[in-house]
Amino acid sequence: MCGIVGYVGDRPCRDLLIAGLEKLEYRGYDSAGVSVISDGEIDSVRAVGNLANLREAVEAHSLNGDGPSVAVAAPPATIGLGHTRWATHGRVTEENAHPHGDCEDKIHIVLNGIVENHAELRRELRGQGHEFSSETDAEIVSHLIERHYDGDFTEAVREAFGDLRGHYAFVAMHRDHPDTLVGARKECPLVVGLGEEENFIASAIPAFLAETRSALGIENGEIVTIHKGDVSLTDADGNPRSREPEKVTWDEDAAEKGGYATFMLKEIHEQPDAVAETITDRLPTLDGVDLSDVELDDEFLRNVERIVIVACGTSYHAGLVGRYAIEQWARVPVEMDIASEYRYREPVHRPNDLVIGVTQSGETADTLAAMRLAREGGSKVLAISNVMGSQGTRDADAVLFTRSGIEISVAATKTFVSQVAAIYLLGLRLAELRGTMDRERIAHLVAELKALPSKLQETIAGTEERVRAIARSHYDQRFFMYIGRHIGLAVCLEGALKLKEIAYIPADAYAAGEMKHGPIALLDESTPVVCVATDSPVVEKVLSNMEEVRARGADVIAIATEGSEDIAAAADQTLWVPRTDWILQPIVAIVPLQLLAYYIAREKGLNVDQPRNLAKTVTVE
Ligand code: M6R
Repeated sequence: MCGIVGYVGDRPCRDLLIAGLEKLEYRGYDSAGVSVISDGEIDSVRAVGNLANLREAVEAHSLNGDGPSVAVAAPPATIGLGHTRWATHGRVTEENAHPHGDCEDKIHIVLNGIVENHAELRRELRGQGHEFSSETDAEIVSHLIERHYDGDFTEAVREAFGDLRGHYAFVAMHRDHPDTLVGARKECPLVVGLGEEENFIASAIPAFLAETRSALGIENGEIVTIHKGDVSLTDADGNPRSREPEKVTWDEDAAEKGGYATFMLKEIHEQPDAVAETITDRLPTLDGVDLSDVELDDEFLRNVERIVIVACGTSYHAGLVGRYAIEQWARVPVEMDIASEYRYREPVHRPNDLVIGVTQSGETADTLAAMRLAREGGSKVLAISNVMGSQGTRDADAVLFTRSGIEISVAATKTFVSQVAAIYLLGLRLAELRGTMDRERIAHLVAELKALPSKLQETIAGTEERVRAIARSHYDQRFFMYIGRHIGLAVCLEGALKLKEIAYIPADAYAAGEMKHGPIALLDESTPVVCVATDSPVVEKVLSNMEEVRARGADVIAIATEGSEDIAAAADQTLWVPRTDWILQPIVAIVPLQLLAYYIAREKGLNVDQPRNLAKTVTVE
């Protein structure tokens, strides 16, 4: 996820901007840039890689004397923008790094998030004579402001904002308004830091916390105009708004975690954004899926005979969920394999097979080895990964990127939901190409997918406190059982993995129908049994399995779809998740299980971000 910093005041701003960007490094990025207004011109430096590269580029720019220099601008620039980019649209190149300019290089912008309608706007602007210098969706915004500009900078930004669809936050500056920054927010965060005769704007508070603790959060749909001595807000229609700033009391460590106690909790809360970033612009209309960023030939997808998903850990569980969707929607057989087992069974590969390596890091040795084997065997290989430039993305024939931003906590959370979302997109695309689903069902699923980010938000808000209470009463249990069927089973496997890895509590996840074939012997009066009983064609069967375990005195915690009173009646405690199309339920159903493991680990006083014996990326086979 990208980072934004802006400054306007009296101090030389280059170092302030880069220092602000450094405070946002934890979000992950692959390129960075700063632009300042210096001597009546916009001066910009961008670099691929880390901020040390950007600093070097800034110094080199000054030594080479290329135009007014960011480093030696005289008088030093006191207004500017900085950005760290995590590539989504367009490759990792200097041209695609932000800030982006308009045709005359009078306006520069930095943007986080995704402009959904970038392709149509680009066409339209091209038709009006605009020329683009990057492959990004973000560049559209500077050209739109240019198109609307008529002497009133804020008004031009407001009108440009009205042209955009998607979820984003951006900040703009104009050469002819060298004392003004204008920002706008739709979903992605934006906050102003208020100083004495100086102000900051950023995507997150840590960017300016060393300079000021007075913060004014920008709300959805608001436009903010910032000068060194004042800040004014309007809504998207230009009506004035006002709000008192707040005092930030976090220490530096909390600031890096966005005010959350741990990275894991922060990342759980970032799940709505991670899914939105992964799906939004790939679902431009209700008619279907746009996977044109994935270089897989439509003809190949139409004729694919079998899909094999290889992955480890949480990524394997994401694949398990995805298998149900692909098979049901596209009627292609899907096999699953744990990557560390795959090679040893001498798998058969065929040219019409698609082998999918699911790996958030793109560096897991076993998954890479399985992908390589498949490729050598003549199958097409698709990587589903969160990290551009990772080995897996280089080895594969095509890549479907999840766009979760960097995940720091060892326990995977937001990458899981975005992997599942990415596989849903692929499943829908396959169904579309193979004609296995009617248009109404596709449109229904697209609408349901688009609603997932807000349903995730609802789930977190609706379950967190209740889960905390359950964690307080169950943290000293010695064993947990998770049961579910169909997609619910995959959710159970992932929930149990979370509990094992961060709370160090033995847990088993079992197909509910199998309990009577042995595992039910494990249960006694004290055993918590987590039942994933969300809507599905097998929910009645899950209900009878719940009754079966309850009859043994187990303490049943149900994850149920809102309104399923019969499930609640069979449980000791119920955690409700919002209704979605049933096959999409895993994305919301996993949330209470992540939170349960998290709060149990916290009750036990454990370091959830760095569990014992585990590394974030396993590069050894
Ligand atoms: O980077 P990958 O997705 O390939 O990693 C695979 C597993 O190591 C990973 O999902 C692991 O199970 C999680 N960190 C568990 O939370």
